[in-house]
Amino acid sequence: MDKNKLYIIAVDGPAGAGKSTVCSDVAKKLGILHLDTGATYRTFALGLIKKGIDASDSDAIKNILNDINISIEFENNTQIMYLDGVNVNGMIRTNEVSAAASACAVIPEVRLKMVDLQRQTAQKISMIVDGRDICTYVFPDAPYKFYITADVSERAKRRAAQLAEKGIVSDIEQLEKEIAARDHNDMNRKMAPLRIADDAVLIDTTHMTQKEVVDKVLSYIKL
Ligand code: DC
Repeated sequence: MDKNKLYIIAVDGPAGAGKSTVCSDVAKKLGILHLDTGATYRTFALGLIKKGIDASDSDAIKNILNDINISIEFENNTQIMYLDGVNVNGMIRTNEVSAAASACAVIPEVRLKMVDLQRQTAQKISMIVDGRDICTYVFPDAPYKFYITADVSERAKRRAAQLAEKGIVSDIEQLEKEIAARDHNDMNRKMAPLRIADDAVLIDTTHMTQKEVVDKVLSYIKL
């Protein structure tokens, strides 16, 4: 592959499989950017919460679709999400936003708006893009495609460890339930549900370290 040619590495997988950390490591190694598409749904969901709109009220959401202004910037190679011109990176990782993002992501009009933004963002520079429909819907022609997953119990354990680092004690069974509920939403929505693309490389990370996953992804990239 021509080194100067723009390319996209598309990565799908369920919540908590470690896609984001793996993608940001791969991006650093390759000197490209990492676009986390979940952050676009999270920012939209935060916009709904701020307006007091229920994330599953599709009629209300369709009416205010254009009143929520989201943009993506990269500053020092880090993705910054803006909602109505304000940097909201510090506000989109709460449980409330996670649940609202998963709920509003089933609404086709919301998806089309987010997909449009994601496609525009990846037009000018090579990127590794992670999400739930990147290989199957957003960038079906990407030259590299991966599906990164892990058992639900392992994903809950990893999430608990992340929270513990922030001093938050969590109930693993409860986390498992929340992750399973998000899987259900993501895999059963009508538009662009989460599934393994026929031409994606499947990586089950249940028994792998982060470095092993990064090395495995890199082993497929031929520039
Ligand atoms: O990856 P994440 O947990 O930050 O994503 C938040 C929610 O956004 C997730 O529950 C489903 C939705 N999402 C999606 O539907 N499609 C994507 N490409 C990325 C995320």
